[in-house]
Amino acid sequence: MNLAPESGSSRRSHLQVRAPAKLNLTLGVLGRRDDGYHELESVFARIGIYDDLAAEVIAEWEPSLRGADELVIEPGGSGAPQGGHVAGPDDLVLRAARSLRRHAGRELPRLRFRLTKRIPTAAGMGGGSSDGAAALLLGALAWDLELDAVGLSRMALRLGSDVPFFSSALPVALVRGRGETVATLGSPAAPLGVVTVTPRWPVHTDQVFAAYGQLRGIGPSTARRATATLADLAATGAEPAAIVALAPELREANDLWPAALKVQPSLARARDDLEQALGVPALMSGSGPTLAALYPSPSDAAGAAARLEATAPPSLDGAAIHVAELPAGG
Ligand code: C5P
Repeated sequence: MNLAPESGSSRRSHLQVRAPAKLNLTLGVLGRRDDGYHELESVFARIGIYDDLAAEVIAEWEPSLRGADELVIEPGGSGAPQGGHVAGPDDLVLRAARSLRRHAGRELPRLRFRLTKRIPTAAGMGGGSSDGAAALLLGALAWDLELDAVGLSRMALRLGSDVPFFSSALPVALVRGRGETVATLGSPAAPLGVVTVTPRWPVHTDQVFAAYGQLRGIGPSTARRATATLADLAATGAEPAAIVALAPELREANDLWPAALKVQPSLARARDDLEQALGVPALMSGSGPTLAALYPSPSDAAGAAARLEATAPPSLDGAAIHVAELPAGG
């Protein structure tokens, strides 16, 4: 199992990892599969917006609500309200823990997870999936479980289509199939800056794929061409400026855009206004609604975000604006 240096694990009884967000630089839908999912071809990139997941063993003598692992979710970020809430059993963190328990097939001490949430939810940034992948990693460490890459990837896919990408710990990857085929793509030669803007209305992935199925006459995928161009660039350690120059093509390279618009028509206005305000193209990540603009450096992105904060149009009222780095390789 790959333990990224940023994982910052400490003693086995109290462990912590960072769970990054992702951006889809392209998202091609190649067709519907027999299992009801869609065949995808997408360039995924990790970006520097993080949830923190910590786990500690619940001592035998400590009273607990149920004889199961627990998860407390706390809002992160400056100015976030204090206090957390106890998550239900369907949260991907607890599902990951149950899946590890089944794999182990023996009694394991109970864990208390604490999740500090900064990645917007139902936003197309993979926050829940990344938390699930982080929980697989933490649980395996806390319980000292051996997991080979194939077993881990299978468990990850059962949690969700985006989880194998996060479990791979690759910074940039070409993701295919339902999400289970994850191949490395080179990272940029220097960090890119990204401004993400997440409108206040959530957009649910299953609804977007359902709408995709109902749309007729979607033109030939521009996503495949953009994916091939990015893969060529990545192979040679692309300069950030070369990737930023592709933004107009990447903007058209998300096949879910028309379906996302069906589910949430306000997206059209939000993207127009954002592009007007920033003066650069905005891509949609995943099934939306997060929109993102690329910059040749993190400081360029910070400047653009500050200007946007000062002049945000009404269609973006209440949107969460983040500046993030798309890290360089090396
Ligand atoms: O796998 P996950 O639970 O994240 O997927 C959420 C929903 O997105 C699925 O219920 C399915 O409707 C849709 N989906 C899809 N094809 C994929 C990934 C997701 O149809 N490759």
